[in-house]
Amino acid sequence: MADYTIPAFASFIDDVRALYAENLPETAHWEGVRGLLKTLCADAAMRDASRAWPAKRGIELVLHHDPDYGFFVGGLIRQPHHRANVHDHAHTWTVYGVLDGEERTHVYKRLDDESVPGKATLELLARNDAPTGHVDIVPPWMPHSEWGMGERSVAITVRSERPGSYAQNRFDLEAGTTNATHRGLELIPTPV
Ligand SMILES: [Fe+2]
Repeated sequence: MADYTIPAFASFIDDVRALYAENLPETAHWEGVRGLLKTLCADAAMRDASRAWPAKRGIELVLHHDPDYGFFVGGLIRQPHHRANVHDHAHTWTVYGVLDGEERTHVYKRLDDESVPGKATLELLARNDAPTGHVDIVPPWMPHSEWGMGERSVAITVRSERPGSYAQNRFDLEAGTTNATHRGLELIPTPV
């Protein structure tokens, strides 16, 4: 069993590792992770623990980085009414679950053919309410942004790899541009 204090988190890590061991096709694998993250986001002890996490801009808490499968589990705390930039996660997969509070997610489609460096035209595809317990899959290269609605909110991310080593797009919708140099947030190791 994974060595964590919160039982639901320890079993979550064990279950994600077991899922990796099954070697499923990509989409089925991430659907499986989504189901497991739904269970974790329903856990009251996990939610209680997250209330002590710092709400500071520009950081992501490191809850787990798997030594065998390379996946990364992070914590994102949004200050009230914080609106993230529109961005993508490059080639990586992310499952994003709201553990506490209420968020709204926006998903965009890229309309240009990416032939002009630095240019990007996006269209809003969907806007969804993401209350506590809501879990989304963010596939590679999908532009999106999350907003905190109302009070402080906390999300758990499960990423196919640790962020920071690859460049992500950051889009400016009005200017129709992208800056593909963003390296993710500052990572803060946090005991669970
Ligand atoms: Fe994101």
